[in-house]
Amino acid sequence: MSASRETTVQAWSSSPQAHLPRLVVGISGATGIAYGVRILELARKAGVQTHLIVTPAGQQTRAHETGLSAADLAAMADVAYRPADVGAAIASGSFRTAGMIVAPCSIRTLSAIAYSNGDNLLTRAADVTLKERRRLVLMVRETPLTLGHLRAMTAVTESGGIVMPPVPAFYLRPESVDDIVAHTAGRALELLGIDVPDQPRWGE
Ligand SMILES: Cc1cc2nc3c(=O)[nH]c(=O)nc-3n(C[C@H](O)[C@H](O)[C@H](O)COP(=O)(O)O)c2cc1C
Repeated sequence: MSASRETTVQAWSSSPQAHLPRLVVGISGATGIAYGVRILELARKAGVQTHLIVTPAGQQTRAHETGLSAADLAAMADVAYRPADVGAAIASGSFRTAGMIVAPCSIRTLSAIAYSNGDNLLTRAADVTLKERRRLVLMVRETPLTLGHLRAMTAVTESGGIVMPPVPAFYLRPESVDDIVAHTAGRALELLGIDVPDQPRWGE
């Protein structure tokens, strides 16, 4: 077992789902697919099993923003699902996971999750995550924000979700876009108790 995997198992052992290092990752059609890609990479390094759903709009941003094919992206996860497959394992609360990250999260997907509209497998899996009182992190990406966007963020927060816009921390003096993406992706994973080796920290 590698050192990073050992660290991860320790991190999980304090969680109620210690024996189940499974993470659902949703990629929707906001700009910033690099965050979702980096989360898949870091989760794999940490020995966490990933379950991926990419919306059709997410596939559009993949084509605009990366050199990855749909198959390349799917291969970065342990299991990749079709968004229309609302009967997949992750659509049920009986399939135990440690939680879900949506990175990036479009306003459309945020709104669907906020109002329990399980219209595709991503939004259904997010609703399941909330109803099972598991951790849900939404990397919402839009600016500026309307009152409607803010209300949807409030509704998700009231249901127990975590709204985490991908906002860079400049005090760490990032030297590249990659540094910024890696730091934010690492913070999202740490919200689920997943240990990220080499994560830059203030004061360390
Ligand atoms: C290149 C590109 C960038 C986009 N960026 C954003 C964005 O940052 N935030 C957002 O809410 N929507 C953005 N959109 C629009 C969404 O893709 C669109 O609302 C879509 O219906 C979202 O669907 P989904 O939530 O099912 O992925 C973008 C679309 C494209 C093609």
